[in-house]
Amino acid sequence: MAFGKLGRSLTALEIFDLVRDELNQVEREIGLESISSVDAVTYIGQYLQSGGGKRLRPILVLLCGKLFRDSTPMLVRMAAVVEMIHTATLVHDDVIDMAKTRRGRPSINMVWGNHTSVLAGDWLYMQAFQVALRERSFPVLDLLIDLTQRMVEGELLQLDRIGKIVSEADYMELIDRKTASLFSACARLGAAASGADEAAERRLGDYAWNLGIAFQLIDDVLDFTSREKILGKPVGNDLREGKVTLPLIYALESADAEERRLVETVLADGNYDQVPFGKILHVLHRHGGIERTRRRAEEFTEKARAIIAEFPPSTHQRALLAVTDLVTERDH
Ligand code: IPE
Ligand code: IPE
Ligand code: MG
Ligand code: MG
Repeated sequence: MAFGKLGRSLTALEIFDLVRDELNQVEREIGLESISSVDAVTYIGQYLQSGGGKRLRPILVLLCGKLFRDSTPMLVRMAAVVEMIHTATLVHDDVIDMAKTRRGRPSINMVWGNHTSVLAGDWLYMQAFQVALRERSFPVLDLLIDLTQRMVEGELLQLDRIGKIVSEADYMELIDRKTASLFSACARLGAAASGADEAAERRLGDYAWNLGIAFQLIDDVLDFTSREKILGKPVGNDLREGKVTLPLIYALESADAEERRLVETVLADGNYDQVPFGKILHVLHRHGGIERTRRRAEEFTEKARAIIAEFPPSTHQRALLAVTDLVTERDH
């Protein structure tokens, strides 16, 4: 997509190149900080780190920070902290969701069991805070604690709504907490680490919040439309786990009683034995649930772009604009 007078959009590789050196430092920092005197924690840390992942959150921290000045050790540290927090939430999320696969490999809970996974997740959270604490910055800690509580609230809300056909408003409330809050915090931490003023920090936080909402909407679309080999986690999983996400919420608005019954059957069974996944996909497509959710995601990235467009033109600003396309056009 072109951006008028700003010229063509940056590619994923060009974006990556802008933060490549810092990302290598982030990987080093995470590796060093994930070593514990208890072997299980160290193994789990290594297993998680080598499993890949898009590193979108650290990239966001780095790009937002470099919008204002060259990177600093604090910026790199903040990028490592958010990835560690993200990783800890994934470990806990997979325990809660009883997930079998993550990043194309058996998930931590499958390899080490639930008990060890919960404790390793706790350890990772605390280690992230330990690293953050080295900055001796109360605003940073304030932001991280608020963020972590919001993410946990998101997962709690989700648990409460498992198996229920929820409203769009309830769904939005949930993804605001579980996903967008972390994206927003990434941008704010990046800006803060680079000495941006309060107003710029807030605007970048809004940008990333919109990006995060779009990201989760696409995650929920991909759960229906992708393939496990590409996604690195099973498809059709949300409904099987009892999560009614936006594509389905939209489809159910105009679905007939029989179609509704199909969805309710999967929710009640927790599997696709009676109602094959293909039938659910048919309902979704017949009522435009996927398309409508994609359009909704575009509305959020549009808002994100509008916010970034008001920052002075620069390579990093263009990269932040282009990140919005990566989020909606991604396949995993
Ligand atoms: C997964 O996030 C959790 C969601 C918010 C959907 P990512 O899709 O960014 O996971 P990794 O880090 O790339 O594996
Ligand atoms: C996002 O929710 C997880 C967190 C924010 C921790 P999901 O349950 O949709 O994430 P995936 O699909 O397992 O990655
Ligand atoms: Mg999950
Ligand atoms: Mg998901």
